[in-house]
Amino acid sequence: MKIVRTISGLKKEIRAAQSAGKSIGFVPTMGFLHEGHLTLARQARSQNDVVVMSIFVNPLQFGPNEDFERYPRDEERDTRLAGEVGVDLLFLPSVEEMYPEEPAVTLTVHKRTNALCGLSREGHFDGVATVVMKLFHLTEADRAYFGKKDAQQLAVIHGLVDALNVPIEIIGVDTVREPDGLAKSSRNVYLLPEEREKAPAIYKALGLIKQSVEAGETDVASLKQKARYVLEEEAGAVIDYLEILSYPALEPIEKVNETIIAAAAVQYKQARLIDNVILPVKGSAPCTAQ
Ligand code: PAJ
Repeated sequence: MKIVRTISGLKKEIRAAQSAGKSIGFVPTMGFLHEGHLTLARQARSQNDVVVMSIFVNPLQFGPNEDFERYPRDEERDTRLAGEVGVDLLFLPSVEEMYPEEPAVTLTVHKRTNALCGLSREGHFDGVATVVMKLFHLTEADRAYFGKKDAQQLAVIHGLVDALNVPIEIIGVDTVREPDGLAKSSRNVYLLPEEREKAPAIYKALGLIKQSVEAGETDVASLKQKARYVLEEEAGAVIDYLEILSYPALEPIEKVNETIIAAAAVQYKQARLIDNVILPVKGSAPCTAQ
């Protein structure tokens, strides 16, 4: 595995891969790798000649009161894990390399952000769209891999690629979970032991919505009420949101009769966790998050 820290170094490797006619799969991350990230990398490995992974904690997508400074970082371990899953090229730029000066242009996302995390994380998806667009240009990848764990981010990236005609295929990968159901997240390390014990209630509450929808229940208000009760009783956290929306448009709905997302965000003492389930309605096309 080659490690490159500069844009010029990355471009040199990308040009070499392209002139050898190789396809490029790209996995953007902020590091502190876990099985979720590694699953994206393995899928990229199985579908491309060259796998590029980036590790960059992007300051543009963190608000002033968020955890940019203390976002967990472990370059040595990340490098070992990336090598083990078959990443060919690991891009580890510094903030100065990515943003040598205040950017003259950044992106603003107009759709799919007026809900869920977009409401409390102002500017977050603009920061994500800006860095992802830069990384798409730098890697010139054929395919890029994103987790459904961050389903709103995936919807925004699809919107970005469609709106700006980016020549890349976006692949959504299922959420990887701990055996007790908790979605893997770099931020799980910040849970206190008693919080870690209660956190699987997030997926339990969302699972209840899934079961009820599969059993034929369609009333969104009552689905939300049942799940909220579980979250309130069992998660031991402050609920930021528990929502059922259309997916990927993320519009409010009253009845379940199209593909939906049930999503929750909760705040523990030192970690804000999100999770979701995407439920294709029987008879509708399987959800590809287009
Ligand atoms: P990060 O949180 O490091 O996540 C990198 C990728 O891993 C994202 O596509 C995310 O959805 C996916 N991922 C995280 N946990 C997962 C899980 N449990 N199962 C499956 N996939 C999972 O998302 C970001 O970084 C950044 O916003 C980024 C896209 C890199 C832009 O800075």
